Amino acid sequence: MSTAISPTAYNYKVVRQFAIMTVVWGILGMGLGVFIASQLVWPELNFGLPWTSFGRLRPLHTNLVIFAFGGCALFATSYYVVQRTCQTRLISDSLAAFTFWGWQAVIVGAIITLPLGYTTTKEYAELEWPIAILLAIVWVTYGLVFFGTITKRKTKHIYVGNWFYGAFIVVTAMLHIVNHMSLPVSLFKSYSAYSGATDAMIQWWYGHNAVGFFLTTGFLGMMYYFVPKQAERPIYSYRLSIVHFWALITLYIWAGPHHLHYTALPDWAQSLGMAMSIILLAPSWGGMINGMMTLSGAWHKLRTDPILRFLVVSLAFYGMSTFEGPMMAIKTVNSLSHYTDWTIGHVHAGALGWVAMISIGAIYHMIPKLFGRAQMHSTGLINAHFWLATIGTVLYIASMWVNGITQGLMWRAINDDGTLTYSFVEALQASHPGFIVRALGGAFFASGMLLMAYNVYRTVRASNPVEAEAAAKIAVVGAH
Ligand code: HEM
Ligand code: HEM
Repeated sequence: MSTAISPTAYNYKVVRQFAIMTVVWGILGMGLGVFIASQLVWPELNFGLPWTSFGRLRPLHTNLVIFAFGGCALFATSYYVVQRTCQTRLISDSLAAFTFWGWQAVIVGAIITLPLGYTTTKEYAELEWPIAILLAIVWVTYGLVFFGTITKRKTKHIYVGNWFYGAFIVVTAMLHIVNHMSLPVSLFKSYSAYSGATDAMIQWWYGHNAVGFFLTTGFLGMMYYFVPKQAERPIYSYRLSIVHFWALITLYIWAGPHHLHYTALPDWAQSLGMAMSIILLAPSWGGMINGMMTLSGAWHKLRTDPILRFLVVSLAFYGMSTFEGPMMAIKTVNSLSHYTDWTIGHVHAGALGWVAMISIGAIYHMIPKLFGRAQMHSTGLINAHFWLATIGTVLYIASMWVNGITQGLMWRAINDDGTLTYSFVEALQASHPGFIVRALGGAFFASGMLLMAYNVYRTVRASNPVEAEAAAKIAVVGAH
């Protein structure tokens, strides 16, 4: 712990900007999620226009929630954590500012081009080549700022949270650049450099590791800092965190083929993806247990601290979705779950329960510190938000399990003469009640975000810029 007074304060400006935009994009991305969920209940909401159709708004939803909401949360927290754990200011304010404005430009590019129908058609990698190049430049700059800051750290060791953030930054760059290799034929149209099964394999190597490194490893970095901080307890096992890190990054990279079971992909690759996915349960649960056990002796805090509740419940959903994932990767299970709403339920157990909940907890933890306040404007509102988010997630995933299994069983049911028992439309009709419950669950979750926006607004409005800057200086004086 350093006690010497440093002349420089941390760069909290860029953290504040990313933290505020996390809330803004969260509302827009999830609001759009509720809208497309409603389109599946009431198809009239497609309005008969191409740019408001489900097919175009769905990728906009995924881009907004993953890259805008999740991405801003990762930028904000990684810049915050790396400065505090290295006890030094970001290596360059201007490069950090470039990452903020560059990232927002990428998001605005997505908001304009996706509804207009410009897309590479690769899931989670839809953005056409000019925007993809901008994204690559911003990302490499992010790497320079993050690793540059680590090299000028004042602490001896590199805190484990930074290992996770570091892996997330390096692997995301690699995935994005390799998967986006393409030949542009016009300003907004390009063709993949790969073809056929190779293209599919590379796309799902990207897709799965977007889940593994963007939606998991980065958020584990968040977990390793904010759970111990909020619980005021050291991490349960530092040794386990190192084993967790190496096991997770070694295994994740092989699991992509579980997205391509029963396709033209060679059979051995599918079996390898399945085996690696099953083994992946071990490091995933190791990390979850490390986070949960950090609360040993501090469980009573859950009664009064809704921020800690967000963080702990996120770990519970992380454990649940990383149990479900390996099960769905088993080929016989996947033959039932694939193409059904079960996958959508699994996605949102991870996305709402894990990614969104941990980000929300981390933002609530940081906002008062970033704006020089002792605490958030209202703890009661955080509590209300917590319940809306938890109930919303449960409604979402439970309805999708019921729908998914119903769809899978109806599609495979055959009569004695070998003909199908149900038509596709009958399975769709059976799914309708589940679609309504999902839209309701989503509305719960999204309205919690509105409470958060109001609470953040009141906290920021009450802050005083001089005090906020002083807070950044005081933070440098104290330990991480
Ligand atoms: C209010 C909250 C949300 C609602 C109502 C919602 C709704 C939806 C809907 C209706 C779909 C399309 C499902 C289909 O095609 O059948 C979808 C897809 C998706 N959403 Fe959300 N969503 C929400 C939040 C989130 C968040 C926070 C994330 C990520 C952090 C996320 C990530 C995704 C992904 C990755 C897909 C594509 C899944 C796939 O292709 O298998 N969503 N969402
Ligand atoms: C050990 C961990 C995990 C494993 C082995 C795993 C495995 C799987 C499997 C087998 C599928 C279905 C593939 C298909 O039938 O098309 C899937 C889909 C998906 N999972 Fe996971 N999962 C894990 C954790 C997570 C987590 C924590 C998240 C989110 C934060 C997540 C997000 C997704 C998404 C977005 C998809 C849908 C991809 C698409 O088709 O568009 N997964 N996962």
